[in-house]
Amino acid sequence: MLKTLAILTGGGDCPGLNAVIRGVVRSAIGLHGWRVIGIEDGFEGLINTPRWRELDLNAVRGILSRGGTIIGTSNRGNPFAYPVEKNGKVELTDISDRVLDNFRKLGADVLIAVGGDGTLRIAQGLFEKGLPVIGVPKTIDNDLQATDVTFGYRTAVAIVTEALDRLHSTAESHHRVMVVEVMGRDAGWIALESGIAGSADAILIPEIPFSMSDLCQTIKNRAARGSRFSIVVVAEGASADGEKVLLKTAGENLGVERRGGSGHRVGDALADCLDMETRVVTLGHLQRGGSPTPYDRILASRFGVKAVELIAAGRYGEMVSLKGRNVVGVTIASAVANINRVDPQGELVTTAQHLGIMVSRNPNQ
Ligand code: F6P
Repeated sequence: MLKTLAILTGGGDCPGLNAVIRGVVRSAIGLHGWRVIGIEDGFEGLINTPRWRELDLNAVRGILSRGGTIIGTSNRGNPFAYPVEKNGKVELTDISDRVLDNFRKLGADVLIAVGGDGTLRIAQGLFEKGLPVIGVPKTIDNDLQATDVTFGYRTAVAIVTEALDRLHSTAESHHRVMVVEVMGRDAGWIALESGIAGSADAILIPEIPFSMSDLCQTIKNRAARGSRFSIVVVAEGASADGEKVLLKTAGENLGVERRGGSGHRVGDALADCLDMETRVVTLGHLQRGGSPTPYDRILASRFGVKAVELIAAGRYGEMVSLKGRNVVGVTIASAVANINRVDPQGELVTTAQHLGIMVSRNPNQ
């Protein structure tokens, strides 16, 4: 029987989204003769008159290596907490029934929601209200439970590592401290892995409040040993003992808390405690842009194909997931129950420390 699959990409974009879309379209059409449509701009595309487009084989030609998402995305449009103006005041309102009605108008049989924690929570909510849903985990932060890794993450680590390599030469030439702020709202995976790969001297992650005095001392110790430059990687969600996580202007994106500014806060504090020039680089959305690495193209393609396989088996409410060497299905509920954070006592942190990198605190000070 002909099925119509609707796919949307929600939340921040991420390298590999197009590879998922292509994987879904190619296997849905090629293997089953099904039809695929793309909902535009995430759940925003279902809030009012549905916005969607046909995704046939032509539509996905040449997109494997392209960053971003051809169907658009948005981190607004949470139907369970949508900003609605009432008596001159904006209130977050549950409009999920309207979204379900709009989805039914499309005549689609199933929704494939490709997204991070926020998008998958919405998908789970709609599934609990009766919508057949399949999830695909996406985020450069790698902070989703129930999958070993999300696609997009390895591309972000490669981009940050390259930036650290480049910053080394200028830091060394000028005898400066370079502070590099990277993404990672609640989890320090990008900071930690790129910091190890890019030979950072200190890595500050959200999971371990950092000690500013340890950081100053670490850099002073390096200088005393003749290394007149240092590289400090700071996750945007990292904060020092007793400090609050820095948030960007509230209200701009109602319902979504944004991070940012941790790099400058650390840079200013270092300038006060060191007799060295300090510069701050915020990599920001560079980490999300551009072409996915081969690893992410392959993982995203496998996720797209597996999503279609789960639909063929009627396994709604599940999310594709990498477990060891295999892509399997797990419940979306298990993926959104908790955030996947770096284990402060785990092997990756210990490895960094044994390499002489300070991870939020210096164990020797
Ligand atoms: O969740 C992915 C992410 O890139 C976070 O690391 C970051 O905090 C956030 O998205 C930034 O979102 P925006 O695109 O809204 O600035």
